[in-house]
Amino acid sequence: RRIDWTPMMAEKGGYKHFMHKEIWEQPRAIADTLRGRMLLTEGDVHFDTWNLSQEQVKSFTKVTILACGTSWHSGVAGKHMIESLARLPVEVELASEFRYRDPIVEKSHLVIAISQSGETADTLGAFKEAKRLGAHTLAVCNVIGSAMTRESDLHILTNAGPEIGVASTKAFTTQLVTLYLLAVKLGRMRGTLSVEGAQEHLTHLTQVPKMIEEVLKCEPQVKRVAREFMNAQDFLFLGRGPMHPVALEGALKLKEISYIHAEGYAGGEMKHGPIALIDEKMPVVVIAPKQPHVAYEKIIGNIEEVRARGGKVIAILDEDDTQADTLADHVIRIPAACALLAPVVATIPLQLLAYHVAEMRGNDVDQPRNLAKSVTVE
Ligand code: G6P
Repeated sequence: RRIDWTPMMAEKGGYKHFMHKEIWEQPRAIADTLRGRMLLTEGDVHFDTWNLSQEQVKSFTKVTILACGTSWHSGVAGKHMIESLARLPVEVELASEFRYRDPIVEKSHLVIAISQSGETADTLGAFKEAKRLGAHTLAVCNVIGSAMTRESDLHILTNAGPEIGVASTKAFTTQLVTLYLLAVKLGRMRGTLSVEGAQEHLTHLTQVPKMIEEVLKCEPQVKRVAREFMNAQDFLFLGRGPMHPVALEGALKLKEISYIHAEGYAGGEMKHGPIALIDEKMPVVVIAPKQPHVAYEKIIGNIEEVRARGGKVIAILDEDDTQADTLADHVIRIPAACALLAPVVATIPLQLLAYHVAEMRGNDVDQPRNLAKSVTVE
């Protein structure tokens, strides 16, 4: 039997869409992000572009992260990582707002732009403004030679390889891993992280590609969930602590490609508004791995509140969680990662959910309506 391959089909490597291929590429993409950067014996991180002295790093009083869209979500997760490991206060700013509100920027601030493309106009504009005001600038980008890598004092590449699907997947998870490496590096240089502490974090990192391979096996189950809820009008995604940005990202992915209205919320905020929306037609995705800072018992409380109002719960739980699994309508299990890395693992089922819902609805997954891969206008 002859198969006629078009160059486009060949590029998709047997997948129907680039997005699906890119979801499945994540174990490799993350391994590429980590390669050559983890110094396990020394308990340190090596970036070949690094040019900051210990004195400079110790003099930083604040980190400001600037980004848009999915990259902004990785910034929110990055805040947890940098604050926890390097004990530096981190503010995460929507780049599109930054320039227009007389921001406080000082020479002792490290300003980090996160951008897959390195070309997003809002992020670039904000970044240039921060530089003009005297901050030290660091760009975390996926595209070498992009405007942000050129404008920055220091750049770190995420090494995800080209991302074609408009909805970002592997760029997001490689950003998370890069920010984790950065948090370890800053922690070591500031003396807030011991050699042994760093070794432990780096060991967690080495396990991530395998964990992603593991979690990708949930695809058939996610497909069943997608089929059941593909006609829902609204979705709610809940997560606390480091899982909050995962909830935001899960909702964004669904909006972008399935055109279903979705909101990501910090679990504790549900009672302040979204609870009014919950009825038997409302699927609620609860991201609840059993981790410190995730307020597990509280998020279980959220599940009970949703159930009491007839809402349908899709819970993302650790593989050995036997407490919450009886409460949820659907349970998707993920391998237990440490709290700061759990976002990388927990995001995968949400990417697959958005993908399959969009695909089942017959949408153009790789080229969703009204969206562009990189938005170079303000
Ligand atoms: C566009 C894309 C999003 C992306 C955002 C930021 O809106 O559709 O997927 O997250 O831009 O892009 P960047 O290249 O700066 O990460």
